[in-house]
Amino acid sequence: MSGAPLIAPPGSGDGIYAEGREAGLKNAGHIKSYVRRAGRMSEAQQRYYAEMMPKIGLAYAPQPLDLAAVYGRNAPKILEIGFGMGETTAKIADACRDNDYLGVEVHVPGVGALCKQVAERGLANLRICQHDAVEVVRDMLPEASLDGIHVFFPDPWHKARHNKRRLIQPPFVALLATRLKPGGYLHCATDWEEYALQMLAVLSAEPALANTADGFAPRPDYRPLTKFENRGLRLGHGVWDVIFVKK
Ligand SMILES: C[S@@+](CC[C@H](N)C(=O)[O-])C[C@H]1O[C@@H](n2cnc3c(N)ncnc32)[C@H](O)[C@@H]1O
Repeated sequence: MSGAPLIAPPGSGDGIYAEGREAGLKNAGHIKSYVRRAGRMSEAQQRYYAEMMPKIGLAYAPQPLDLAAVYGRNAPKILEIGFGMGETTAKIADACRDNDYLGVEVHVPGVGALCKQVAERGLANLRICQHDAVEVVRDMLPEASLDGIHVFFPDPWHKARHNKRRLIQPPFVALLATRLKPGGYLHCATDWEEYALQMLAVLSAEPALANTADGFAPRPDYRPLTKFENRGLRLGHGVWDVIFVKK
């Protein structure tokens, strides 16, 4: 498959672009790690979505991507799963222009917000796929194609009966490990202690991965503090980074 951007500007005038995509996911056969939130976009998010997604959007398709063709170069490739409003994604891609980033997110206003950042910062090293990351990783990313994977503050799914929706579970981590090159890293961060412990346990149990630290890792400089995290830290809340590498 070529690297051609495939997303058409959204046609709906009401700012809610998700419904058609959701229909196609219903029978996909795995528990979703997200619920579809109402996706009302601001006027700026709509405008930047329409302008940028034809240029930097990758449509989901169940065929492996040629990542070098997508970015037009051989450079380290980093996947970010669930970028939210994309502030961290944009800051990292701006600071590390020698790397290429693929952000995957289902929340449409967040996609619009990151499109705005990409346009304003003039980022040529970022692509967006608006789709379930589990399916993107499974169907589109070749084995040993990634130098790094970021999973920052994934939804913690606090209630025990919802824990099965958490992204960081053994089968998905095993799948992620296959997509990393040897030496590539998987970096998870959370402010929910119980999920942090689950992350550490699940990654430790994956035989293809090795911990870079003795337990939790210090926050590396490339991951900027979010506003929300800053506020939490001032209130004495914890944040845990878990960073493993592919053996
Ligand atoms: C709590 S937010 C954190 C956002 C961002 N990483 C941050 O640090 O601010 C988690 C995000 O992950 C997204 N998400 C959850 N599961 C996903 C999946 N399977 N595929 C794509 N995005 C997903 C949600 O839509 C949500 O925006």
